[in-house]
Amino acid sequence: MSLPVGESTSERAWEGNPIRFPMGGAGGLPRAARVVRVIPESERVKTLILDLRLPAQPGQFVMVWLPDYEEKPFSLAEADPVGLTVARVGPFSTALHRLEPGDPVWIRGPLGHGFTLEGRRILLVGGGYGVAPLAFLAREALARGMEVTALTAARTATDVLYAERFRALGARVVVATEDGSAGERGRAPEVARRLLEREAYDALYGCGPEGMLEALRTLAAERGLPAQLSYEAYMRCGIGLCGSCEREGRVLCLEGPVLRFAPDGGPPEEGTGFA
Ligand SMILES: Cc1cc2nc3c(=O)[nH]c(=O)nc-3n(C[C@H](O)[C@H](O)[C@H](O)COP(=O)(O)OP(=O)(O)OC[C@H]3O[C@@H](n4cnc5c(N)ncnc54)[C@H](O)[C@@H]3O)c2cc1C
Ligand code: FES
Repeated sequence: MSLPVGESTSERAWEGNPIRFPMGGAGGLPRAARVVRVIPESERVKTLILDLRLPAQPGQFVMVWLPDYEEKPFSLAEADPVGLTVARVGPFSTALHRLEPGDPVWIRGPLGHGFTLEGRRILLVGGGYGVAPLAFLAREALARGMEVTALTAARTATDVLYAERFRALGARVVVATEDGSAGERGRAPEVARRLLEREAYDALYGCGPEGMLEALRTLAAERGLPAQLSYEAYMRCGIGLCGSCEREGRVLCLEGPVLRFAPDGGPPEEGTGFA
């Protein structure tokens, strides 16, 4: 079984232009939205809920703009209404953390290529705020009757994100912490490896830090599983024009951020990015 997630993604092939854009053309112009709710997730992470609905797939992202700052990409934690889960690490994310209900923010998107559902029993592995698009994916997968195990990994218990949200959706939740203060002790790939040794899955999905994704890519190839992994890259235009996000010959803002790797490993599959 291989199903595109969501029903609303369309592509427009512009005559004479080899680039095909996801729904919304080039993401359109930034549109103004307002924060309607702020959900504290941990000491360093908040989710902003906006008064905006987007036709989007899990794994797609939006460019977020605030006056006096450059635009930055954020995964959609939800699309209806839009939710953004933001870790405070630098100037832009700190500015987002200062927003309160009623404050404006500008959104361009949805952009990029999201996850595709495949198989019946799937394992989702999220490191830090990487859980955000995976919760959106879990909702879609569960709605289609799939069995979902969500592994949410963090350094320590107070950094664990989304465990209750995954449970509320109906997913089985496995928590992993590096210091063993909650759930299983170990980094995400180690705990995922232990799960895969005990249980059978049809596909592996991941979002999180680069090192975690590379370890998951290796793990999936060893276990003969297809893997869909969401990568971060420095993004400026978000629409395939500036080249800043290229990786392994792929323009990640268009062909990713989700790349699919076949069960035998190797480079990301040709055609990834255009479901
Ligand atoms: C496709 C895509 C999706 C993304 N989705 C999200 C999302 O859902 N939530 C989210 O919070 N961010 C997300 N990001 C990252 C986001 O776009 C910004 O890069 C991030 O918010 C940092 O911007 P900043 O200006 O606050 O800090 P910067 O000035 O860019 O960084 C400040 C310092 O923090 C370091 N740093 C940057 N990122 C991290 C990190 N993740 N952990 C630890 N240190 C870091 C930098 O190396 C630098 O030293 C995504 C990026 C991409 C490409
Ligand atoms: S961000 Fe400009 S080409 Fe991808």
